[in-house]
Amino acid sequence: MAKVLVTGGAGYIGTHTLVELLAAGHEPIVIDNLVNSSAESLKRVAKISGQEVAFYKFDLCDSEKLNDLCGAENFDAVIHFAGLKAVGESVAKPLEYYQNNLQSTLTLLAAMEKHHIPSLIFSSSATVYGDPSELPLKETSRVGVGLTNPYGKTKYFIEEILRDWSAAHPDKQVTILRYFNPIGAHPSGLIGEDPQGPPNNLMPYVAQVAAGVRPELTINGNDYDTPDGTGVRDYIHVVDLARGHVAALSNPATGVRTYNLGTGKGVSVMEAVAAFEKACGHPIAYKIGPRRAGDIATCYASADLAAAELGWRATKTLDEACQDAWRWQSQNPQGFRQ
Ligand code: NAD
Ligand code: WQD
Repeated sequence: MAKVLVTGGAGYIGTHTLVELLAAGHEPIVIDNLVNSSAESLKRVAKISGQEVAFYKFDLCDSEKLNDLCGAENFDAVIHFAGLKAVGESVAKPLEYYQNNLQSTLTLLAAMEKHHIPSLIFSSSATVYGDPSELPLKETSRVGVGLTNPYGKTKYFIEEILRDWSAAHPDKQVTILRYFNPIGAHPSGLIGEDPQGPPNNLMPYVAQVAAGVRPELTINGNDYDTPDGTGVRDYIHVVDLARGHVAALSNPATGVRTYNLGTGKGVSVMEAVAAFEKACGHPIAYKIGPRRAGDIATCYASADLAAAELGWRATKTLDEACQDAWRWQSQNPQGFRQ
């Protein structure tokens, strides 16, 4: 049983991870400034789990509040989800992204040093692979080349910072998890992804078209060098992803470890839309648009390292993810706003 500080715990991946942490007997404590989430999500976690989660609403860049909390609690580990994540917004507001994502991480690492917290799990992204040098992407594949937006660069820079930090503090346990494309929702339909404004990512957009919130999906190009011409990605059910964090927490090792969390399977936009149509029971309106700036054709993981070292593999299917996303979308048309 570990007492775990969960930064950004009110968000999409954070809430699903809280459910899995509680189910595994851990004690999570959340910090979130709710810049991209709401406290209702944590009430839903309590409803699913039958347990309340302690929650502190403040900005992770607030060193005084963070040190007060870390001084009062004896944390065994930190799972660091907090960050801004909208790719397009990061191009328009680079300083906001660098300030928030980098400064919050630096503040957190300083507090971990001061309060002797031994273990960190960091939310990185397949985006650090940039333009893939090989497929499937392995943890040893080239990173940092062809990063087209400040958001992705914050993930790459933070990985570098963590390597330097670990070199100076070899007793710390640092786990970098590179998520591929998280989708789906908890099967209860009580928590899920709740985009503010038009969704940036494919699946929440498809869900809103399916629900009639938006008229049609624009497919960002069908002239890629892929089997059907549309972009191919590795979509992973968010509950599988959440369980990957519990597996990392249960398998500590000193130094820096890096794992892909993906399924190992590539799925095209057309295949993803077809799976969602099956889940919701009706066609999804779409049109073919131009390519999206900065997009790559194909990206999927080798998921073998996490299987070998953490004993973790994704088990849920694309169909299950679409069914769960549709349940969440149809039961919560306003997301967490009631
Ligand atoms: P999310 O926006 O739902 O959750 C992030 C949470 O962090 C939000 O609740 C937000 O309010 C909080 N937050 C942001 N800045 C903060 C700050 N300075 N202080 C306190 N709280 C702050 O996003 P998510 O999809 O749950 O992503 C979680 C993490 O995983 C992020 O770091 C994200 O970059 C990373 N990630 C996400 C994806 C994805 O597609 N969802 C893919 C790869 C990596
Ligand atoms: C998937 C596919 C699009 C929307 C992004 C971030 C990445 C990571 C995950 C955080 C692509 C196509 C999309 C639409 C479409 N996030 N698409 N119409 O781009 O693989 O990754 O989210 O770390 O950093 O870049 O995911 O869901 O945006 O796109 O045709 O309206 O769907 O072109 O082929 P992506 P996505």
